[in-house]
Amino acid sequence: MERQANDFEKDRAREYRKKAVGSHDQNAPLFADRYEIYARDPYASAFTYGRKKLFERIFFLLEKNVPTDGEVLDVGCGTGYFLTLLGKFGYRAFGLEPAAAMRERARSANPDIEIADGEISRLPFADNRFDAVTAIEVFRYLHRRDIINGYRECLRVLKPGGVLIASLVNKYALDGFIFKYLLRLGREKFLDRPAINYCDFTTPRSVAKLFTREFGQSVETYSALLAPLRLAFIVNRNLGRSLARALEPLDEWLNKKKWHQPLAGHLLAVVKKFEQVQR
Ligand SMILES: C[S@@+](CC[C@H](N)C(=O)[O-])C[C@H]1O[C@@H](n2cnc3c(N)ncnc32)[C@H](O)[C@@H]1O
Repeated sequence: MERQANDFEKDRAREYRKKAVGSHDQNAPLFADRYEIYARDPYASAFTYGRKKLFERIFFLLEKNVPTDGEVLDVGCGTGYFLTLLGKFGYRAFGLEPAAAMRERARSANPDIEIADGEISRLPFADNRFDAVTAIEVFRYLHRRDIINGYRECLRVLKPGGVLIASLVNKYALDGFIFKYLLRLGREKFLDRPAINYCDFTTPRSVAKLFTREFGQSVETYSALLAPLRLAFIVNRNLGRSLARALEPLDEWLNKKKWHQPLAGHLLAVVKKFEQVQR
């Protein structure tokens, strides 16, 4: 019985992985377009503004925790835009990306950066190597099983004292994304609509519990993006752009408040490896 449940979980995890990598393989041109727009105007869409806020928070955390010439691995690096930024800030960047079309773009945009093929739950790197590992919008696509294996792998390749920075999806984000997801899931199941990627929703508290339980490690959480701005972009792109510009100081202020963390558009888990992973 237990073995059957285990096999079922394994199949599920494989199915989610296959979907996530396959869909990103197809969507590589879309991501490249989004980042071209980002480079011109970060306020242009919910995606670009969300990435602006996320990247600002991540670079702030890297600056606090990693020497400027430190080695940073970006797992699930997509088209490699963040790798380019890492290089510009002076970090020695490395990438990993399982979707071939994404990887090709990342490599041609960053010819001097080593970008490996592989998956987060089996990183092709030695133990204790990197000063930081980033995983931006990657864990959200993974089954619980792969999430735990992925965290374990990220901790393994980090030097003691190194940091893992992972973005996650807030269950209670004020844009109500969870309802949109459940609706799409229902349409997939009952109306035979196209299959969607799995999304893992979490909270700052459950991330902290998971790290204590699985690895005996403490985690700090941070947030980015005033989530209702995403809704403004859905209503009208120009409205979203204007509101994002006007409300950015409020966005910054709110995302320094602990109580706002579970409600934000992006949640960040930051884990400093201070001891060997226990299990
Ligand atoms: C939403 S995209 C984000 C890409 C990039 N980090 C960014 O912020 O632009 C998610 C990325 O995770 C990658 N991915 C999906 N499953 C993965 C896995 N099991 N291991 C590593 N990366 C994975 C996808 O191929 C895709 O490039």
